Amino acid sequence: ALQRTFSIIKPDATARNITGKINAMIEAAGLRIVAQKRVQLTREKAEGFYAVHKERPFFNDLVSFMISGPVVVQVLEGENAIAKYREVMGATNPEQADEGTIRKTFAESIEANSVHGSDAPETAAEEIKYFFNDDEIVG
Ligand code: CMP
Repeated sequence: ALQRTFSIIKPDATARNITGKINAMIEAAGLRIVAQKRVQLTREKAEGFYAVHKERPFFNDLVSFMISGPVVVQVLEGENAIAKYREVMGATNPEQADEGTIRKTFAESIEANSVHGSDAPETAAEEIKYFFNDDEIVG
């Protein structure tokens, strides 16, 4: 079915000026970027986004990393967009990511792993709402 997923191009990628290369891989996979904006997250906004990870040992470092520079937040649309984008991203840990994936190609570490993508329809809807109004998404 036609789905939408939420994506973040992370600070390690904006710092290296490779957002266009990542967008090219997204589009080559048949996903359409139907909303996109470059933003500087506040600590509060990043903590809210990653609230599910609050008790994890990596939480504080993750939040500090995510506010260390601009990010590009996106809504991607396509057939089975959630699973498809997870395939395009590759495994969370770039050492375990398949050849040709965004993380295998670009990620620096499990933390500086270049991109985030929603893991399920419910989280996709929540994450999209956390960053975008309906009138900012043009399918
Ligand atoms: P993301 O999809 O943005 O969701 C949570 C992030 O935590 C994950 O990608 C990783 O970049 C980051 N992270 C940092 N350390 C770890 C870890 N040990 N295990 C899982 N995720 C981690």
